[in-house]
Amino acid sequence: MSTLLEVRDLEVVFDGFRAIDKLDLTVAEGEVRFLIGPNGAGKTTLIDVITGLTKPAAGTVTFAGESLLGRPEHKIVRMGVGRTFQTATVFEQLTVVENLDLAATFRQPMRALLRRRKGIGDAVAAALDTVGLHDQAGSLAEVLSHGQKQWLEIGMLLVQDPHLLLLDEPVAGMSKDERARTGELLHQIAETKTVVVVEHDMEFLRRFANQVTVMHEGTVLCEGTVAQVQADERVQEVYLGRSRDKRSTAEVS
Ligand SMILES: Nc1ncnc2c1ncn2[C@@H]1O[C@H](COP(=O)(O)OP(=O)(O)O)[C@@H](O)[C@H]1O
Ligand SMILES: [Mg+2]
Repeated sequence: MSTLLEVRDLEVVFDGFRAIDKLDLTVAEGEVRFLIGPNGAGKTTLIDVITGLTKPAAGTVTFAGESLLGRPEHKIVRMGVGRTFQTATVFEQLTVVENLDLAATFRQPMRALLRRRKGIGDAVAAALDTVGLHDQAGSLAEVLSHGQKQWLEIGMLLVQDPHLLLLDEPVAGMSKDERARTGELLHQIAETKTVVVVEHDMEFLRRFANQVTVMHEGTVLCEGTVAQVQADERVQEVYLGRSRDKRSTAEVS
């Protein structure tokens, strides 16, 4: 498999605090990569750098052979990198279809926006299908459950047809059934795209993760299968809170 995303020697400093420290990460085309690590490990900051929200102090980020650093956020979206945030950012006062429609216009040229569209576009219909919100298509986003809002947000990414999806804790706060449905959704999406997903829940990982990258104190602690990282003493130490870093809180049992 060819490399899609390559992060090398990344450093991010906030007011003298090194949130990311010499981080290397390689993600191959078509992978579902799970990213775990205690609170404050730098997972969200890493996504922020890849998507152009945060400027690193040093390092490189290459996507499909092109550097992402120094590019504005909307350019990175247009290059095919989409993300979700830890808190869903759907438009509550719009319907599910309207939310998807709005997201779909984001990568289109102005000409397409000026053309009056009739009915549901192909990309919107396909996204509705994938995330399973057909029955809610005409409902206001505000009436959706927490899980459905996360799926809508993933649908809003899909209509932009990204090559790489970066999902920041999509199953946090979901019910057991919603988690299972999301795990299946991630693998379905990965049939045609590459997915990096931040998630801590070990049961979820055991069921749905192949490759796992463990982050701690802004760098990669280890990588491997779920069984491999669970067996790693350093990972156990970090998650049992025996680490020297008191910023970390154990989140995985
Ligand atoms: N904008 C910011 N300014 C200052 N410190 C920040 C900022 N964003 C994140 N941090 C700090 O960087 C570290 C990594 O945060 P974050 O990437 O959110 O971790 P994670 O997503 O793994 O929980 C934390 O110590 C956090 O407090
Ligand atoms: Mg985070």
